[in-house]
Amino acid sequence: MYPHLHEEAVTFQTPSVEPDVGEFLETFTKALRPKSILEIGCGIGVSSYYMASGSGGAKMTCLDRNEMRLEQARRICAKFPDTTFINADGVEFMKNCTETYDMIFIDSMKRQYPIAYYYAEKLLNDGGFIVLDDMFMYGHIFDEDCEIPKRYIGATTALRELIAHIKNTTVCSVLPLTGGVVVAAKRK
Ligand SMILES: C[S@@+](CC[C@H](N)C(=O)[O-])C[C@H]1O[C@@H](n2cnc3c(N)ncnc32)[C@H](O)[C@@H]1O
Repeated sequence: MYPHLHEEAVTFQTPSVEPDVGEFLETFTKALRPKSILEIGCGIGVSSYYMASGSGGAKMTCLDRNEMRLEQARRICAKFPDTTFINADGVEFMKNCTETYDMIFIDSMKRQYPIAYYYAEKLLNDGGFIVLDDMFMYGHIFDEDCEIPKRYIGATTALRELIAHIKNTTVCSVLPLTGGVVVAAKRK
């Protein structure tokens, strides 16, 4: 674990993966050894750091729409020369992308997850994985509809539908880490 990264996220008042999710990303990339990783929603680069540490030299393309966060991510991950941070909308980037990836990590706006996942599937190499964080929407996906605060209804519905879609179309695991992590393997 890298406590200083989580302290930075608090200092910059920026959301980041929780330590258990970070450690999962590091272990997973260590085991999988992806050669290329696309990250949608890198924030200040906490998750990027864990994946770069685990993968040991994967070519990583990390996107965010917030330039101030990207500046911090570039600083935090400066020791990983194969990591590139780009100011771009994740969906627009994937629509026009001609590269493919061994692993795609999605941690951006939850309501956009279904469309992000749709394009991520197209960019995934055979044998690759899509990993999504915060799939439990603060636990609301398990609540009765009447219990969900109004502002979370759209995202909660989208995430429930996406989990059902992923379960029906891939080999996948839903992991009870802090925010709820889904790992989907591309069917060959
Ligand atoms: C939960 S934070 C990411 C935290 C990051 N994974 C980490 O562990 O440090 C979500 C990030 O997604 C970015 N974001 C939201 N929608 C996006 C989009 N459509 N394209 C790119 N980035 C987006 C936000 O600016 C924010 O920094």
